[in-house]
Amino acid sequence: MGGESRAPAGKYRLSMGKEAQIIELPKILDERGNLSFAQNFSQIPFEIKRTYWLYDVPGGESRGGHAYRDNEEFVIALSGSFDVIVDDGVQKRRFSLNRSYYGLYIPRGLWREMDNFSTNSLALEFGSTPYSVDDYVRDYDEFLKLKADGKI
Ligand code: TYD
Repeated sequence: MGGESRAPAGKYRLSMGKEAQIIELPKILDERGNLSFAQNFSQIPFEIKRTYWLYDVPGGESRGGHAYRDNEEFVIALSGSFDVIVDDGVQKRRFSLNRSYYGLYIPRGLWREMDNFSTNSLALEFGSTPYSVDDYVRDYDEFLKLKADGKI
């Protein structure tokens, strides 16, 4: 595993490439309450096939240590905060999510973990594929081997 660096926020670009990045979402400020949104192929660079959310995560807990072979992800901290660590097998980058108008795009084929959950945080995730147990790589050494062989 390589060293960990803290990643800066960036604006959405149409060609997303293979790097994880923070995308700033539209924010409609209103004294009645603010509104943000995310839509297929606009703010989210793939067609959403699935959504799920993590809640009631005990403060300080970590989860999600795995890679997806095919699934791309878009993660939003709707409430509270947590960190997502994205690892390409050489370098680990830590993204801190703590605002509901930032999303983290994670391309396929990267090891990803989540930690530092605040109490009562709510993580919303969009995926580019339906759930498939075969899409998961759960063993880190297997992940490194797949990366070295160019298979993920
Ligand atoms: P998982 O992705 O393994 O979470 P973590 O890596 O944080 O432990 O999901 C936990 C369980 O939920 C797993 O048994 C599969 C199930 N699950 C679904 O059935 N559908 C889904 O879309 C997701 C994300 C998980």
